[in-house]
Amino acid sequence: MPTVQERIYIFDTTLRDGEQSPGCSMNLEEKLRMARQLEQLRVDVIEAGFPIASVGDFEAVQAIAKMVEHGTVAALSRAVKTDIDRAWEAVRHARKPRIHTFIATSDIHLVHKLKKTRQQVLSEAVWAVEYAKTLCNDVEFSCEDSSRSDIDFLCEIVEATIVAGATVINLPDTVGYSVPEEYGAMFRTIKERVSNINKVTLSAHCHNDLGLAVANSLAALHNGARQVECTINGIGERAGNAALEEIVMAIKTRQEKLGFITNVNGEEIYKSSKLLSSLTGMMVQRNKAIVGANAFAHEAGIHQDGVLKSTITYEIMTPQSVGIKHSMLVLGKHSGRHALKQRYSELGYVLSSEDLERAYKSFCALADQKKEIFDEDLVAILEDREDNSVDLYHLQNIYVSSGTNIRPTATIELKQGEQVLIDSATGDGPVDAAYKAIERITGVAGKLTEYSIKSVSLGHDAIGEVFVRVDFDGVLFNGRAVSTDVITGSVKAYLEALNRALTAKKRKGEQQKEEVKDAAVAV
Ligand code: KIV
Ligand code: ZN
Repeated sequence: MPTVQERIYIFDTTLRDGEQSPGCSMNLEEKLRMARQLEQLRVDVIEAGFPIASVGDFEAVQAIAKMVEHGTVAALSRAVKTDIDRAWEAVRHARKPRIHTFIATSDIHLVHKLKKTRQQVLSEAVWAVEYAKTLCNDVEFSCEDSSRSDIDFLCEIVEATIVAGATVINLPDTVGYSVPEEYGAMFRTIKERVSNINKVTLSAHCHNDLGLAVANSLAALHNGARQVECTINGIGERAGNAALEEIVMAIKTRQEKLGFITNVNGEEIYKSSKLLSSLTGMMVQRNKAIVGANAFAHEAGIHQDGVLKSTITYEIMTPQSVGIKHSMLVLGKHSGRHALKQRYSELGYVLSSEDLERAYKSFCALADQKKEIFDEDLVAILEDREDNSVDLYHLQNIYVSSGTNIRPTATIELKQGEQVLIDSATGDGPVDAAYKAIERITGVAGKLTEYSIKSVSLGHDAIGEVFVRVDFDGVLFNGRAVSTDVITGSVKAYLEALNRALTAKKRKGEQQKEEVKDAAVAV
């Protein structure tokens, strides 16, 4: 049984590896909200993005770097000067900045993707780390596709990049191919054969293609890794990355066996998971470990009986330890601002007076429609923000007629700045009719690729949460809204996606103008 408790550093890459996967994109404000929550969660490193990838990524990394107070903020770059410069420009204002640079090391990648020799890759990696080190003291180097790399070459490149100044060496299982024994053995060999390995922190980064990401990460920790890279809800490329909540709770729940500790505040896990789902629309499956709706639900009679007699019979950790508060009937129509503020603070939300006022207004409107207001409703109210920019579309009114034997018709009234715009359309159903009316008003056609609706709390009058993903000109935009009326919620969610598409288009236009201006200056 381990006696010493070794500290494991949690490197969160939700905003980089997670965000770059399809359907998980977030805008600047959403990334900042997520980063704020990751700070509350007390992760050690926030990988905020890949600044060279786009202006949006660059700006998000920069804003997060300026905002984060405690943890390290990392920016990803390939092992080339332009990327490293851009990454540094984005993180340089962080209190604790890190440049994370990488190059592939497996022959499969060298031959088929990079078309480079091992010698070339080695010298580019060393050059990149040396160069990054001239800018930033904390440099992480990743050998992409480590788990399929030749072990002798891996030892050589790791040793050389440590000499070049790397502070962290990351050995990813990029394609989720490894099995735990094998991934652990790679770390063990690196520890045994690389003479300067004790100068750096070794890091694990696992993808979940075979469902082994968490098991592989734990195997790496068992064999000397002390940083683990992971994402909230396990989002990420393809089948995702190792789930942060699973790693952290495995370490916590099996402390006596594993002998590790982290600095993560477990009670912020559930809130982080919920926030991410609501920002991206990427819901977690009901039976997902730790944060799924069934994770703490005991259905079978024999289990319920056991848990009622003593929770230790079937519960290996408490819902409270991950921040799940029991849904309680808390407030009603006559509750005042003070009670609302108090309940929010019990749920872990500290509201500014402006936010409280806004929440109180929505709360009163909801209390008129719904007798019982649950904690989930209060959280939904907070997450339902509208961007009030003048050139965006806002819903004013909606009239729908629908039934078994009539063709559904919707009349929609939108506001754009001071203009009120109104039109009607028919459709296959009331939502289809409403979306067609919006298309007639705005002149913007979108193709709905995903639509889901779920109840956020209990009762037939519960708030419905609508999530949509819409394809505008080949680019996907998410929208989310909550309402006790499913048609209103559906329209608001669609408008959110549409407004995002319009904002992105406007930004792109501005960016192109800037580029033309820069090109003219250069000439
Ligand atoms: O999976 C991977 O190899 C990565 C690296 C860029 C760290 O995400
Ligand atoms: Zn990855």
